Amino acid sequence: MLAASASLLNIPVVVLDIGAHAPAKQVVAPTAPHRAHVDGSFSDPDQIRELATKVDVLTVEIEHVNVDVLEEVQSSHGVEVHPNPSAIRIIQDKFRQKEHFLSLSLPVAEFLPVDSTDRAITSVAGVLGLPLMLKSRTLAYDGRGNYVLRELSQIQDALNALGGRPLYAEKWVSFVKEIAVMVVRTATGDTFSYPVVETVQKDNICHLVFAPLRSRDTGLMARARDIAETAVRSLSGAGVFCVEMFLLASGQILVNEIAPRPHNSGHYTIEACETSQYENHLRAILALPIGSTALKVPSAAMLNILGASNDMSELTNFAKLALSVPGASVHLYGKAECRKGRKMGHITVTANSDAEISARLHQLLQHLPGRDD
Ligand code: ADP
Ligand code: NA
Ligand code: MG
Repeated sequence: MLAASASLLNIPVVVLDIGAHAPAKQVVAPTAPHRAHVDGSFSDPDQIRELATKVDVLTVEIEHVNVDVLEEVQSSHGVEVHPNPSAIRIIQDKFRQKEHFLSLSLPVAEFLPVDSTDRAITSVAGVLGLPLMLKSRTLAYDGRGNYVLRELSQIQDALNALGGRPLYAEKWVSFVKEIAVMVVRTATGDTFSYPVVETVQKDNICHLVFAPLRSRDTGLMARARDIAETAVRSLSGAGVFCVEMFLLASGQILVNEIAPRPHNSGHYTIEACETSQYENHLRAILALPIGSTALKVPSAAMLNILGASNDMSELTNFAKLALSVPGASVHLYGKAECRKGRKMGHITVTANSDAEISARLHQLLQHLPGRDD
């Protein structure tokens, strides 16, 4: 989606990813031999160095990258890296990220460091209570890295599931809603936020997004955007960031986490906003004027298409059906293999009212592969 946006602005893109047919490489052909795509892992130092020789500006679409090498290419190859590796370094360790929010006096759920032992976890559960959210500090995404500890008898299972990675513990949050704000940050620290959205997670993975968030609390939007922009302003470098938050029954907001990149909860911006998160990411990292973040439709929703099995045809059949729903835009990512729980695409629906969105979404959800409700 970033590559598609770049192509409209004639911005040449070089992609580092595994395989000649990685999704972004299907979208943009190299514009010159010295700009051939790189075949390798985004965490491989040599491949990152090779990418750096081919570009003026380097950006990332995942935070689990090699920050040391990004710092090296920024200082030795003179490549601009966005967002700044220092921001990625804070974010890629969730415990450090939470400490950073605390240092800014942003509201977060109570959290504590914890060793990966029965004794340490028992002691932390004594302080924070049960259920307890155990989180891997690093390499976590789509809920892989979280374990909800409901009883102390599950500790061994939790340690096995979290696979020996460094952990921390978070107090369980009984939120009424999860909300998110995409924020565009320029290299000089100006911030522009998109509308506040509601995100619905199923099994820890984003299932639905509704834009804009509806609420009787008239100050809520401003508070959420203010928290999000404060958090993003504190990091350095340019680009779009997603700030995930919990909304409590009292109206209080807690910051959950930040993603330093275009994000699933901003996919709706492609069809529903004046400028998409992808285009604004490019504008920000290239120091071009930032586009309006305003909604251009009354209501929008995004439905993720997750693999239900290894059978790709289930998804292509669903996508075909979705084309008959008015206002629905289908995005399939071109991933070579379908796996249960893997993000394979999404559908954005726009409409003139929330009622119309509900009706259209209902049509889609009835046929969603793997649906269990
Ligand atoms: P990931 O990096 O996988 O997105 P998150 O920390 O955002 O990890 O957790 C994924 C989901 O788990 C959240 O969107 C939320 O639904 C739930 N969750 C995370 N932390 C808590 C918590 N402290 N209390 C209750 N639910 C939580
Ligand atoms: Na994450
Ligand atoms: Mg998250």
